[in-house]
Amino acid sequence: MEIVIAPDEQAAANVVADVFEQHLRSGPTVLGLATGSSPLRTYAELIRRHREEGLSFAQAGAFLLDEYVGLPRSHPESYFSVIRREFTDHVDLDPDRVHSPHGEAEDVAAEAIAYDRAIAEAGGVDVQLLGIGTDGHIGFNEPISSLTSRTRVKTLTEQTRKDNARFFSSQEEVPRHVLTQGLGTIGEARHVVLVATGAAKAAAVAAMVEGPLAALSPASSLQLHPHATIVVDEAAATALNLADYYRFALAHKPSWQQF
Ligand code: F6R
Repeated sequence: MEIVIAPDEQAAANVVADVFEQHLRSGPTVLGLATGSSPLRTYAELIRRHREEGLSFAQAGAFLLDEYVGLPRSHPESYFSVIRREFTDHVDLDPDRVHSPHGEAEDVAAEAIAYDRAIAEAGGVDVQLLGIGTDGHIGFNEPISSLTSRTRVKTLTEQTRKDNARFFSSQEEVPRHVLTQGLGTIGEARHVVLVATGAAKAAAVAAMVEGPLAALSPASSLQLHPHATIVVDEAAATALNLADYYRFALAHKPSWQQF
């Protein structure tokens, strides 16, 4: 794991955008995209680089992490709609190559299997962007998710439904079930980049980075990943015991070493 402590949210987003740019400029790229608030500044920065610096997504495809079960794609808070509104409609990414699980599929179990197959058929994800829930989830792999899980239906915790109520008119409206890539699925991405900002994420970040590898803290599964970059702002870094070491390592990062 590499831990990058950025001075603020925008600086964190710039680092994540740099990682995406590095992949996109190296050739055809399969992007793994997250929704929620954490990636919004990164998406805004990538849109800016597309408009002002010619960063192209024409050779890229994308797979979303998750989707609410039962929410129509036309609903403004379906992740199908959110990713288009916040990001992909504003760059030259072919809309037909932006994939997400069908939350309204009649057979959600079959849909989950087909989704994993589609990722594999696309050659796997090159760079996966992640946020983290206050309870340590990545994707919607809530605590005690199997560390080797595949895409499947999960039940959201009440804490996550409460956290996500801000996107709906009430907590009651937040769906109880989701289709999410599993921890095993996410772990197959060749490079994972997690962004976390704000004090509310500090405990979950510390458990992910410095806690034991445990299904109770699903993001700790990234400790097993050979190429994980964790980008946090100062507020999200406050509970890290080895923060000074991470700063030292970053300050002395060899010039040849990319993220
Ligand atoms: C969203 C996702 C979730 C969010 C997490 C944090 O696609 O998979 O894991 O990244 O719930 O949400 P925010 O960023 O809104 O705090």
